[in-house]
Amino acid sequence: MIPQSFIQELLNRLDIVEVVERYVPLKKAGANYVACCPFHNEKSPSFSVSPSKQFYHCFGCGAHGSAVNFVMEHVGLGFVDAVEELAKSIGLEVPREERADAAQRPRVEPDLFDVMQTATRYYIEQLKQSPRAVEYLKTRGMSGEIAKRFGVGYAPDGWQSLAAVFPDYPSKSLTEVGLVIESDGGKKYDRFRDRIMFPIVGGRGQVIGFGGRVLDKGEPKYLNSPETPLFEKGRELYGLFQAQKSIRAEGMALVVEGYMDVVALAQHGIEYAVATLGTATTPYHIQKLLRMTDQVVFCFDGDAAGRRAAWRALENALPHLQDGKQLRFLFLSPEHDPDSYVREFGKEAFEHLLGDEALPLSGYLLRELGSRVDLATQEGRSALLEYAKPLLVAISAPSTALLLRKEVAALAGIALDELEALYGIKSLVRPRRPTPAKAHRAAPSGGLNALLRCLLIRPELAHELPESWEVEGAGAEAVMAVVAYLGEHEFRPSTAAVIQRFQGTEHESALVAAEADILGWGESFDVVAEFHGVLEKLRKDARKQQLHEFHARIREAGLSGLSEQERALYLQLLQQG
Ligand code: UTP
Ligand code: MN
Repeated sequence: MIPQSFIQELLNRLDIVEVVERYVPLKKAGANYVACCPFHNEKSPSFSVSPSKQFYHCFGCGAHGSAVNFVMEHVGLGFVDAVEELAKSIGLEVPREERADAAQRPRVEPDLFDVMQTATRYYIEQLKQSPRAVEYLKTRGMSGEIAKRFGVGYAPDGWQSLAAVFPDYPSKSLTEVGLVIESDGGKKYDRFRDRIMFPIVGGRGQVIGFGGRVLDKGEPKYLNSPETPLFEKGRELYGLFQAQKSIRAEGMALVVEGYMDVVALAQHGIEYAVATLGTATTPYHIQKLLRMTDQVVFCFDGDAAGRRAAWRALENALPHLQDGKQLRFLFLSPEHDPDSYVREFGKEAFEHLLGDEALPLSGYLLRELGSRVDLATQEGRSALLEYAKPLLVAISAPSTALLLRKEVAALAGIALDELEALYGIKSLVRPRRPTPAKAHRAAPSGGLNALLRCLLIRPELAHELPESWEVEGAGAEAVMAVVAYLGEHEFRPSTAAVIQRFQGTEHESALVAAEADILGWGESFDVVAEFHGVLEKLRKDARKQQLHEFHARIREAGLSGLSEQERALYLQLLQQG
């Protein structure tokens, strides 16, 4: 846990213009800086950076956030890594606060990484000593060079081989990192015996786990490290560390099923492949890859298991789709996996498949749904609508969602608005938001929207709200959430901190809309006056509404129908005028 107050301090000390310029050249335009958006393709700049408010916002694709968010998105780092990176760049040390939260990852002792490093070196050394293991890799077509690049090794066939490099074999750390197992009787022995070892490398280049393959027949074929303080399967991708440079350069990531697939592809010049680790593709995996690149292709084996894996990947991807980013699915024929395919046909043939045969996510989704039902019957079309509902509802990327809804509606023979009504979802076809703004433009009408804009641009105004202030109506939830956030912190969150806090929440879109307006407000715009004006108007509206309700009740039951308290309130309202 990094304390919120530190995030605020970091955001105060950083200059977002300088941070963005490390990656994207900016041009001054009025009070702001602009560039062609680094997060989507465009010819004229709709990406703005506000130096006074310390946030960025793209009018084209909606990318937005603080300096921390920018580094996360652009460099593909997780939140903690981005904070650390930025803190380091200005010489700040990141403090940590403990949290007794189960979701919290355990603290990692630095020496656990050393243990993994020592084991990796030992396994590599042992491979050289084992003609049998070397021979096995040769039959699999693996070159010495690529084995070296991936740190492939061999765990010899003994119960305590690791004792050779760990004089303190019984120590806790070997069990903690999953290299040693303790039997019920308390006996300790190596987890990996007589296996080809594939080190799994974490984001910072440290070995965090292993996959071990049997040389001959045997069960299980692959043995993986258990979940340890260093290693969480659902978050890691095999080969990502080695592939990240190529993923950026090629603008594409390829997700495959197996260790051998990644290694064989790399050996044949396809270096942007990664593999899940015997698990389904998780939302973390997808988010991680989509931060690095706009294009992800899933290539699963053509067998039934591969198809199931692909569908799971699709389901987990839906909530994370972004317009302008492309997910595709490639199915090889059942007798092949990427490893065997690329060894038989080579790089060009494989890349040709990637280009020509990979189905876009929408095509795959529609094909799959269509194959489950008989569209010629009414029952079939109705079943289609049932199957499609949870999938379509999960997509938040506006264009993608709209296009898919249209296609499903068409397949079912109904209109888009009928489908939306049926699913109880809001129509995505709304009037376009006005384009960037001239200076001095006033806040849009609509009290709560205006209030949100004021609070965002001058968060300290929240302290001028009456105690236990509450509002209702359209947009109230976002305003109340922001007010609650601003109220609970002593460090006075800035605009950028508010934007960052609500990233990925249900209120994010309300803030994106507010940012778009704020960017157009000139410095001379009187936010404080606007704020008090809006508050006054909201107060008057609320009074009117309350009086209206009282009058309705008084008409029905007379003044005596009100309790003493209510009568007092009624009189008070009448006097306020
Ligand atoms: P596959 O059985 O498709 O293996 O499992 P593969 O990668 O093609 O391996 P080779 O070519 O026979 O060597 C795909 C992935 O599923 C996980 C591993 O991550 C493997 O790479 N797996 C498979 C396991 O975790 N345990 C197993 O027993 C089998
Ligand atoms: Mn294989």
